[in-house]
Amino acid sequence: MNASEYARRRRELMDLIGADGIAVLPAAGERVRSRDTLFDYRPDSDLFYLTGFAEPESVAVLVPGRRHGEFLMFCRERDRERELWDGSRAGPEGAVAQYAADDAFPLADIDDILPGLLERSERVYYSMGISAEFDQRLLTWINTLNSKRQSSHAPSEIVALDHLLHEMRLFKSRPETGLMRQSARIAMDAHRRAMRACEPGVMEFELEAEFLHEFRRRGAQCAYLPIIAGGSNACTLHYTANDARLEDGDLVLIDAGCEYEMYASDITRTFPVNGKFSEPQAELYNVVLEANKAATAAARSGNHWNDPHDAAVKEITRGLLRLGILEGKLQTLLKDGAYRPFFMHRTGHWLGIDVHDVGDYKVAGQWRVLEPGMVMTIEPGIYIRPETRGVAKQWRGIGIRIEDDVAITRKGPKVLSADLPSDIDGIERLMSVGK
Ligand code: GLY
Ligand code: MN
Ligand code: MN
Repeated sequence: MNASEYARRRRELMDLIGADGIAVLPAAGERVRSRDTLFDYRPDSDLFYLTGFAEPESVAVLVPGRRHGEFLMFCRERDRERELWDGSRAGPEGAVAQYAADDAFPLADIDDILPGLLERSERVYYSMGISAEFDQRLLTWINTLNSKRQSSHAPSEIVALDHLLHEMRLFKSRPETGLMRQSARIAMDAHRRAMRACEPGVMEFELEAEFLHEFRRRGAQCAYLPIIAGGSNACTLHYTANDARLEDGDLVLIDAGCEYEMYASDITRTFPVNGKFSEPQAELYNVVLEANKAATAAARSGNHWNDPHDAAVKEITRGLLRLGILEGKLQTLLKDGAYRPFFMHRTGHWLGIDVHDVGDYKVAGQWRVLEPGMVMTIEPGIYIRPETRGVAKQWRGIGIRIEDDVAITRKGPKVLSADLPSDIDGIERLMSVGK
C-alpha cells in the first residue's frame, strides 16, 4: 500500500477528531503459544490501517493541528543483539523515514512524553477493553494530570475511537479493493487445487495442506482456521479438526480464505468427494445455489443490509418445501422462520482487514443502506444433522454452504470470487481435469 494512502486515512480521521482531540492506538500484544514459543504475530487492524506499521510494542498517536507534528510514533529502539535473534526493527528513525511519522520516540519514553500530549486535548479517542494493561496506563496518565489540576489540564472525555475509524474502514478505497481481489484470487486458486486433489480416501488435512501451500507460496496466510468438513462434519459450523477420511459418496464443505497484505478473503465451496453429485445432493445443493444467487442480486447499492438475507431465506424455505423437507404453506413457513433448524446463521458479514470486518450493521436501529465501497460475504447454507427427526434419510448428514465475497459498486454487486465455479457442471468439470 502506498504511503500516501495511509497519510490520507490519518488526515481523514484527524479532521473528524478535531483540533482538541487526540487519538492513541497501541499495537497488538505478542501471544505465547507454548513456553517461549509465540504465535505468529498479527498486527492490530486499526493501527495497521492508519500507519502500515506492523511491529509489536508500538503506539501511534495522532494530534490534529499540533504545530510540531501531528503523527507521532512510539516504538522499539534498534538493538543489534535483539535484531540478531528476532529480525530487524524500524526504530524511531525508521518510523520517521519509512512510515512518515512527524516524530518518533523509543517506547520507553512514553511515560515522559504522552502525558504532555494528552494535556493539550479535551478528548482522547481510544478503544477501551482490548488491552487491560494499556487501558490502565492511559487512565494512570489521565489521573496524574487530574491530580495536578492547578498546574496542568486533563482531557475530560475518553471517546470510543471505533465509531469514527470503523466507519472509515467499512468503505474500501480503490487500493484496498485491489488487494481484496488479489486475496480472493489466491483463495480461488487454492480451492481449485483442493477440488482437483480430492478423491475418496484422502484425509481432510491433506486438502488443508493444498491451501497452506498455495497461500504461503503466494505470500499470503490463512485469514482464519480453514474448515475442511467431509460428510456430516459439515453440519458442525465451526468444524476445524480436519482429521477425518473423505468418503466415497459424501460431500466435502471447504471454508477457507487467505489474508494477503492484511486483507481477507472468505470463500466456501461444497463438492462431491468422488467428483459427481448424487441426485439428492444435487437437489439440495441447487437450493443453496439459488439462495446464493438471489442474495447476491440483492447486494446492491440502495438496498438494506438485510435484503440479501431475506432473499436467501425465501429461496431456502421455498426449496426445502419443494423437496418435502418442510411441509405447509410458503407464507406460513416464512412467517414462522421454519428454515432456522437448517440455516442457523446469517447470510453474510462485512469483509476487509478483519474477516468479520468492522462497521455497524444498523444505523439508528434500522438495517443500514448498502453503499458503493462496502465489501461483504454472501454465504447461505443448509445443514441437516444426521440425528434430525422427521426428515427423509437421503437428506440427513448433508451440510452445504456456498460463500462468495461481494463488493458493492455503483454498477451493482461485483463478485470477487466469481471465477471459482459454484454451479454443479462447473465443479464436476473442474474436478475431472487430469483424472
Ligand atoms: N469463515 C468464517 C465465516 O464464513 O464467516
Ligand atoms: Mn467462511
Ligand atoms: Mn464468512
